[in-house]
Amino acid sequence: MPEIKFCHRNPVPMEMHKVKIVQKLTLLPAAERLKKMEEAGFNTFLLHNGDIFMDMLTDSGVNAMSDNMQAAMLRADDAYAGSETFYRMRDKLEEIFGIGNLLPAHQGRACEHIIAQHFVKPGNVVIMNYHFTTSKAHVTRLGGRVEELVKDEGLITRSTLPFKGDIDLDKVKACIEKEGAENIAYLRLEAGTNLIGGQPISYENMKAATDLAKQHGIMTLLDASLLQDNLYFIKTREESMKDKSIREITRMIADLFDMIYFSARKFGFGRGGGILVRDEAVFHEMEDYITMFEGFLTYGGMSVKEMEALIVGFDETMDFDVISQGPQFIAHCVKELDAMDIPVVTPGGGLGAHINAREFVSHIKSEEYPAGSLTAALYLCGGIRGMERGTLSEERNPDGSERIASVEMVRLAFPRRVFTLSQTEYVIDRVKWLYDHREMIGGLRFVHEPKTLRFFTGRLEPVSDWPQKLVAEYIKDFGEDQ
Ligand code: F0G
Repeated sequence: MPEIKFCHRNPVPMEMHKVKIVQKLTLLPAAERLKKMEEAGFNTFLLHNGDIFMDMLTDSGVNAMSDNMQAAMLRADDAYAGSETFYRMRDKLEEIFGIGNLLPAHQGRACEHIIAQHFVKPGNVVIMNYHFTTSKAHVTRLGGRVEELVKDEGLITRSTLPFKGDIDLDKVKACIEKEGAENIAYLRLEAGTNLIGGQPISYENMKAATDLAKQHGIMTLLDASLLQDNLYFIKTREESMKDKSIREITRMIADLFDMIYFSARKFGFGRGGGILVRDEAVFHEMEDYITMFEGFLTYGGMSVKEMEALIVGFDETMDFDVISQGPQFIAHCVKELDAMDIPVVTPGGGLGAHINAREFVSHIKSEEYPAGSLTAALYLCGGIRGMERGTLSEERNPDGSERIASVEMVRLAFPRRVFTLSQTEYVIDRVKWLYDHREMIGGLRFVHEPKTLRFFTGRLEPVSDWPQKLVAEYIKDFGEDQ
């Protein structure tokens, strides 16, 4: 839906759905939030969801289902082998993507595991526009290497470029020349590039990059986990595509690739995953991994109820009204924050709004985790849970020194169809309050630091009593009950 027009006020993004089932939220008073944050070791991953007002950690597995998705669950055909639900899911994906060879898997990283297992040999290179944490980990685990060849402009946080996820074709050519096509396991393009702010890739760029790969006999792989947002941006930002339907665009994209995989925790509004394989022989070779790691070939670790809901979810993903809402809410949030000179990634992408913590709390040194500190402060001052995407999420160098992240971001995810505009306005208001009090935010240091993926379970403490002072100031402005 193009923006709904207003005649007496500036337009705001509209929810093209109404709420039918609700979950009660609790807004703990700030003093209690401080206690909860201390108990969670200043790590928002360790908070209990019941203590959170706005859970903007991720859009993964927390998107709202529609009435039709829930209704569909009732007709799930429970069978270990040969479930009718599986065939319905396969047919729906074939209708949308034009590929009927479906390998089901329990989530996105399971697909990545299987693809890497089949194609990556030690010393191989995988070309990507940008990595995602799990997509890279599966390649490096097998002795492969990832070359991230997104255009330089993609990493500039404040920009007006419509397609910051585009891959640099000259860099791809140079990489193929340097490494040799036979040493390149595949080209992986991530639609709605997650780690640079959910930034889209254009159809034109996907076509050119996959053409290049094909000329050299390199396998092409699409990560479609965030495709729904990317489809919206192609239709609204790519001039040559504006008159095409979402289904037409999806099919044009799919036709470019040898293989497509997705996390259905994002794509399809449910929980699950799948790989579509164009080549019949390769498809059959890969089946072994499903039975070994995921489950039988007709469920692959997914609940059939969830699969039945996904079939409807895939259809809803082809509905422009449905996929518009997320990007429009994010654009609104980014625009409002930007207008108040709060450092955010622009233009707004899919998935969520991204705050540039390196600028927001420029007085906190990287070794004291600016994005981690800001994430903790946002919970204290509003009950909002975002996700740290910065130095805290990196692993240390072999000599024990910190590996300083190239970008320090706090991601405020917008799970699809979950939050209303008033909740979005609340978040904007609290971020602004925090920005006005940013000098009060201090750093963090580890008290328990796991060796791998430390951001998930590590425990930290503030370097001073800044949280107490910040909360006292917050209470002065908002009262004891919020
Ligand atoms: N690809 C992309 C682009 C993703 O964003 C994710 C997950 C995956 C693959 C892996 O899928 O979680 O189902 O195993 N992103 C989540 C996030 C975790 O919070 O951004 P998964």
